[in-house]
Amino acid sequence: MSTEILINAAYILSAGLFIFGLKLLSHPATSRKGNAVSAIGMFVAVVVTLLHKDIINYQWIIAGIIIGGAVGAVFAKRVEMTAMPELVSLFNGFGGLASLAVGWTSVIELGNPSVAESLVANLSEASHSGSNTSLMLAISYLSILIGGVTFSGSVIAWAKLGERMTTGAITFAGQQFVNIALLVAFVVVGYLLVQEPANPTWIYVAIGIAVAFGILAVIPIGGADMPVVISLLNSYSGVAATAAGFAIGNNILIVAGLLVGASGIILTNIMCKAMNRSLMNVLLSGFSAPAGKAEKIEGEIKSLTPEDAYYVLEAAQSVLVVPGYGMAVAQAQHAVKELQELMEKNGAEMVFGIHPVAGRMPGHMNVLLAEADVSYDLLMEMDAVNPRMETFDVAIVIGANDVVNPAAKEMKGCPIYGMPVIEVERARTVFVLKRSANAGFAGVDNPLFFRENTRMIYGDAKETLNTVIREFGDS
Ligand code: TAP
Repeated sequence: MSTEILINAAYILSAGLFIFGLKLLSHPATSRKGNAVSAIGMFVAVVVTLLHKDIINYQWIIAGIIIGGAVGAVFAKRVEMTAMPELVSLFNGFGGLASLAVGWTSVIELGNPSVAESLVANLSEASHSGSNTSLMLAISYLSILIGGVTFSGSVIAWAKLGERMTTGAITFAGQQFVNIALLVAFVVVGYLLVQEPANPTWIYVAIGIAVAFGILAVIPIGGADMPVVISLLNSYSGVAATAAGFAIGNNILIVAGLLVGASGIILTNIMCKAMNRSLMNVLLSGFSAPAGKAEKIEGEIKSLTPEDAYYVLEAAQSVLVVPGYGMAVAQAQHAVKELQELMEKNGAEMVFGIHPVAGRMPGHMNVLLAEADVSYDLLMEMDAVNPRMETFDVAIVIGANDVVNPAAKEMKGCPIYGMPVIEVERARTVFVLKRSANAGFAGVDNPLFFRENTRMIYGDAKETLNTVIREFGDS
């Protein structure tokens, strides 16, 4: 049996492991196993790729694995749980950068007539029957372009998520004109690069166009629309890997890229649905007329101490917890779990209402609550808790803001108008655990804080919960 057949058989095994891993990842109970299965698939793919006859020099590869692996391990180990979404965004970006590098190398090789001839012949033998240099160059160009867009777009997303730059939309006069000019330049430079692959100028211009495209695509999107950008960039990183896979004729890179691209698009669709927006609407929202001015909220904010909150909770029969980004900041998930156990002992029900865009990355709240061993059965989706909101004696909002903001239903023209939210204001009593009455990520003031049945419990969420827990212990 030839090495080529063995390699492709191992790639099929890897692809199977990726698909099975993805299936396991779709449920919290099996997700750890899914991660491990996919990692084994990737390990097989990497080892088998290294056996390929085209590899003539292992020194650079080993050096890359050691340096890259060490940097990745240190970053992953050191990262705060709250900065995880930013790290994931950077990972997408580096995936794009890698595809850009592959496309770049491929253009350089194809620009050298003798190398190009053998390369195209090799690829035709393997899986690219009928492919020619121009087609290969066009694919490599796409790899540079999509990779560059993913990289610069992800860096902007990283900065926005970490509030290193404004989290709102950035628009400027003539933005549409610049985008159209970039599109024209993209086609022209692609043509020139295919004609003159040995001229490095076109590669540099292509990289410039890609980076500019990525920046311009992400800056006009901000606030509550960020989840869509994150999942879309994730999908782009997959498409970039697929293009790189075609450029170098690596079947498993094509398959893995397609899986990431497709799952990213599915996630994007879920995020759009969660926000009741179409993808086009999100992508072009920054270019539309500015939203109307938000109305001023009238009324008085009433606060409560954690000690007094205890008496209400002690008498409650049914409690809903709505966690948000502030729970991650406060690292309050373990305290929440402790409170849930106390409520259960007290004969009361306590369930969790999870909004699809709560936190800063898809599934953020599920990950935190799983870390604290909160049973999956207690986690309910927004659509399941909203219809029974009146049955809850108390709704405890823990570091959530935008995802419970009634302005999304009531204030036409505000940036989150139309986004479905968890309607905690219909519960009998609402406790809001946060440090101030400031707005959330989308920068929209929250009328919930002014409602007759709302009590603000100011302070760090973990400290507040610990005080309530102590009161349970003392009684
Ligand atoms: P946010 O609207 O961001 O509100 C979080 C709240 O937590 C803040 O208002 C803050 O208020 C409070 N907080 C911070 N630290 C705290 C602490 N130590 N203790 C108690 N409270 C604390 O969060 P959300 O309701 O989860 O909504 C998520 C937002 O992020 C949405 O707009 C969403 O579109 C956006 N977003 C989501 C994603 C994904 S994929 N999930 C990605 C990017 C952006 P104080 O400062 O007053 O304490």
